[in-house]
Amino acid sequence: AHEALVVFTPSGRRGRFPVGTPVLEAARALGVDIDSVCGGRGLCGRCQVDLCEGRFAKHGVSSWPDHLSAKSDTEQAWEKRRGPLRDGRRLSCSTLLLGDAVIDVPPASQVHRQIVRKRAEVLDIALDPIVRLYYVEVQEPDMHVPASDMRRLKEALAHEWRLTGLETDIRVVQQLQQALRRGGWGVTVAVHDDRRLIAVWPGFQAQAYGLAVDVGSTTIAAHLCHLQTGEVVASTGRMNPQIRYGEDLMSRVSYIMMHPSGDQAMTRSVRDALNELTVELATEADVPLDAILEATFVGNPIMQSLVFGINPVELGGAPFALATDEAIDGLWATEMDLAIHPNARVYGLPCIAGHVGADTAGMILSESPYLGEELMLLVDVGTNAEIVLGNRHRLLACSSPTGPAFEGAQISGGQRAAAGAIERVRIDPLTLEPRFKVIGGELWSDEPGFDAAMASHGITGICGSGIIEVVAEMYLAGVITRDGIVQGGLAARSERIVADGRTFAYVLHRDATRTIAITQADIRAIQLAKAALYAGIRLLMEHFGTDRVDRIRLAGAFGAHIDVKYAMTLGLIPDCDLAHVTSAGNAAGTGARIALLSRKARREIEEVVRRVEKVETATEPRFQEHFVAAMAIPHRHDPFPQLSA
Ligand code: FES
Repeated sequence: AHEALVVFTPSGRRGRFPVGTPVLEAARALGVDIDSVCGGRGLCGRCQVDLCEGRFAKHGVSSWPDHLSAKSDTEQAWEKRRGPLRDGRRLSCSTLLLGDAVIDVPPASQVHRQIVRKRAEVLDIALDPIVRLYYVEVQEPDMHVPASDMRRLKEALAHEWRLTGLETDIRVVQQLQQALRRGGWGVTVAVHDDRRLIAVWPGFQAQAYGLAVDVGSTTIAAHLCHLQTGEVVASTGRMNPQIRYGEDLMSRVSYIMMHPSGDQAMTRSVRDALNELTVELATEADVPLDAILEATFVGNPIMQSLVFGINPVELGGAPFALATDEAIDGLWATEMDLAIHPNARVYGLPCIAGHVGADTAGMILSESPYLGEELMLLVDVGTNAEIVLGNRHRLLACSSPTGPAFEGAQISGGQRAAAGAIERVRIDPLTLEPRFKVIGGELWSDEPGFDAAMASHGITGICGSGIIEVVAEMYLAGVITRDGIVQGGLAARSERIVADGRTFAYVLHRDATRTIAITQADIRAIQLAKAALYAGIRLLMEHFGTDRVDRIRLAGAFGAHIDVKYAMTLGLIPDCDLAHVTSAGNAAGTGARIALLSRKARREIEEVVRRVEKVETATEPRFQEHFVAAMAIPHRHDPFPQLSA
């Protein structure tokens, strides 16, 4: 008669408990996953549940009312500090079972809940951050039972949280006595990987954050994430200051070769930028720097080396040996001079090969082709293209030297994607007249009001996606041949075709300040870049033994802005159902975030990376053959049935 049957949803676990048992305690006994930092003291608010059915009581009430009508003192106190509990939600630690009950544990209260890995897909991961917080109350010291403060802290952690065999960072010892006394013998500790005490704060503190960083050669992007919810609380990016040592990777490596300790200068400059980014993120999200307890990094092999203080000269020339293809694990933030909690740990995803970095590992983790049967092609286009092809059976990777043409560099009117850059182009096949759209503008160039709208910043150049479109449109309108030759004969028909030395160019835009024309050399640069990309892809397909892929994911800024139809028209990517060619966003950065939030994902990518078959484009004779055939538009002989569909 004095027992209550309780059922927890969605797990379906059930059991009988004496009347008066706190709901949280019943859940623990049944192995139901309910989060808690404060150990049931009503401080953290992580243990919220929905009481669906049944009779409950509150703490401190000796005669049980029929149903829980009023909130407990603990709940009222919590609401006073943190705002009202959501409708129907109660703190399971301060709600007692009074009769049979059905209780729902919402996802936000589960420790190991699933978080969606990719917005558009069903793949997801279980939230399992490597750093967790625990609040404990520690016995006061007693002359008659001599035991050190650390000993009594560990006893409390073992008793209350079943954490045993913990190692300790010296900085925790340095802070422990003061924290215990200031916190009135209650402290919050941070535990890394269930086995190492890395931080201690007086009293209760519920903030644990992590930093996920993608260090690109041009830009650094960083996210600040709440470790218990997975939520991104702030994101930012900035130019990589190493640009002053060289625009591209190879010029930075040559700087190091020519300047003793040039690598250290570059490591310092990237770390300084990381600290500025971190302060910016913490300020924006109103998070103290010492609540940032973990950081993860991805980058290409040279960037990743420099972040971790590894001299990258070996990566500057053949045979391109990596210092390590293992994950960088367990480095202290202080060792990297990072302005986060000094005992925070830093994790770098593993690099794959001399040209295929941790950013590619991040992309693989985020897109997870290794989980399915579907044959997936992942492409990240920067100065090099990183290409991954495979499924759960095999995974192949290579890097292809596309050069920076797709980013608008080495193109006469090219510029970075920024306000004023032409990004969309259409050419009338009859009149050869173009219409275009400019970044930051709403209107097409032939719409009324376009000139007035452009008056403020002007039309300054053409960006990567604009170049792809204009060259593809020139091909579709017959302005260039399959071999990429600008048809000088058309000059008689259109003023847009003009002589340019011994070749011809297509004038896309002309105003008082500048002429933006697509020259024969520009077309060549695009052909070389796209042939390198396609040849790399084809080489992997050949190694895999396939002539078609099921899905193509384009990562990075390039993938986000490019119109996939035009990419296929030019033959950048192989034929594929266009509905299956999509942008993957900043997949490398997403990979860093996943590694931040899931220990299992780290082990997963470390294992997957070891299985990746590396294909070296520089030494493969077939690469040259593929390259030559891919110079034609879209290709010398490969068919593109989707284009005629
Ligand atoms: Fe912390 Fe309930 S467990 S408030």
